[in-house]
Amino acid sequence: MDTSEFLEKAWANEGPKIISGFSRPLYHNLMGLLHGYRYNKRDYGGMIRHTEAAMLKKWASSIRRGGTAVEIGCYGGLSTSYLLSGLRSVGGKVYAIDPFNSDLDKQAELTDDCVPLENKPTKKIVEQRLNKNGFEGLFELIEGYSQEVASNWNPDIKIDFLWIDGNHDQAYLDFKSFEPYLAPGARVAVHDAHPRYGYDAVVRDTKKIFAERKWASMEHVKSIISGVLAD
Ligand SMILES: C[S@@+](CC[C@H](N)C(=O)[O-])C[C@H]1O[C@@H](n2cnc3c(N)ncnc32)[C@H](O)[C@@H]1O
Repeated sequence: MDTSEFLEKAWANEGPKIISGFSRPLYHNLMGLLHGYRYNKRDYGGMIRHTEAAMLKKWASSIRRGGTAVEIGCYGGLSTSYLLSGLRSVGGKVYAIDPFNSDLDKQAELTDDCVPLENKPTKKIVEQRLNKNGFEGLFELIEGYSQEVASNWNPDIKIDFLWIDGNHDQAYLDFKSFEPYLAPGARVAVHDAHPRYGYDAVVRDTKKIFAERKWASMEHVKSIISGVLAD
């Protein structure tokens, strides 16, 4: 199945969901029950569902030993914790980018209004939370904006897993900014990329992302669309 056909099926209102190998929706739910309730969504102010959380963990645990994941949009560290719990088994590192509570005037100008700017988690709070969860030394929090961070990225650090959940009007821009640093066979996952569970702008950008290059192992998990570079 090519990627546009895959996306059409994933986003269809009717008909069977995407199923390949062992029934994927059943598998996602099973994984969600086993691994998707570890960190408290309400406490963290997180936005991912239990099935999505479990698959983030699973994908992060599947990258090469000592590999790198980049998260765009860390917020309170919920998705970061799931990424880290997967990545720990391969001894890799997560770079998690977010402006946190810095320069709120600038954030107010740039915001897509998807998260409240009042009481935004601070970098320090998230750092403490991740350390308390046992991830000390496995992550670096970068206070800033994805495109600026990408423009200063060390080209020696190849990215094995790019998780896009930042500004919902900029998913394609985020992909393009980090694309030069993706390792061969890297996984890319986009959150809120479903017309019913996400945002139209992300759906539009997801179409563009997956229309470029060749992709394999495509997955649709609730609002996440993900695939592995195959060219
Ligand atoms: C939907 S929240 C992320 C939720 C988090 N991934 C989770 O599941 O718990 C989006 C976050 O991205 C941040 N953000 C917005 N634009 C950004 C950018 N250009 N680079 C990095 N983060 C950005 C927002 O401030 C917000 O904290």
